[in-house]
Amino acid sequence: MNPPDEFAQALAEAAPRLGAFGRNIQWYHTVTSTNDVAARLAEQGADAGVVIVADAQTAGRGRHGRTWASPAGAGLYVSTILRPPGEHVRLVPIAAGVAVAEGVEASTGLAPALKWPNDVYVGSRKLAGILAEGGTSPNGRAHAVLGFGINVLPAAYPPDVAARATSLETELGRRVDRGLVLACCLRALASRYADLCDGRVADVIAAWRGRAATTLGRQVEWTSEGAMQRGVAENIDADGALVVRTDGAVVRVSSGEVRWI
Ligand code: BTN
Repeated sequence: MNPPDEFAQALAEAAPRLGAFGRNIQWYHTVTSTNDVAARLAEQGADAGVVIVADAQTAGRGRHGRTWASPAGAGLYVSTILRPPGEHVRLVPIAAGVAVAEGVEASTGLAPALKWPNDVYVGSRKLAGILAEGGTSPNGRAHAVLGFGINVLPAAYPPDVAARATSLETELGRRVDRGLVLACCLRALASRYADLCDGRVADVIAAWRGRAATTLGRQVEWTSEGAMQRGVAENIDADGALVVRTDGAVVRVSSGEVRWI
């Protein structure tokens, strides 16, 4: 389906600046997960930039096997297909975090912060999350399915989510135009994806660092080979790995879950 009126005007106005992300935007009432729909299309050879948006997800998923609560009309649930140059594929989650934060700021005036790799926070509460999943297209080339979820209304989240999450309307105390937020996020994604494809990797990393001031310099914990490690998060490197200073060394954390303490 084409996006409903709530989205159509903002998307039409933004279309000239959405690049590939404005050519084929498909809207669904309810899906299991927009990442499932995008992955199926990618496996059938769909173009990079196809965008899947759903009003609700019945099996929305987050990182580390978590579920992503996706009540109807309460958030933005969006996925797209990317085929970045191989050398920059590891930076997709970093670039996507920057883009979602920039899209939220452009559409609402809120200035979200980022926690590695790409959790989008307002203060101490999570506003949005990003899930990048890899796959192979029919021509044998790798693709990434990139999904993002943004909480828009404070509605109907399970109690454990409600306690550590926030939403745009909670933060702003007013109604939010989901179409405008979506259009601004896709526009920012088009711009940051172009940065990756054209080799402007340093710009992406600098933008990420600019939004991570409150989390860099903080103590973190993570598990490596079954043992709990602890250190101070100092930076991210050119591959998007978190650089952490421990008692005796500086180590790179490139996957897994990091807890901020
Ligand atoms: C996280 O922070 O754990 C990542 C959450 C990602 C949620 C989005 S909603 C759209 C897309 N479809 C999914 O099933 N997950 C992502």
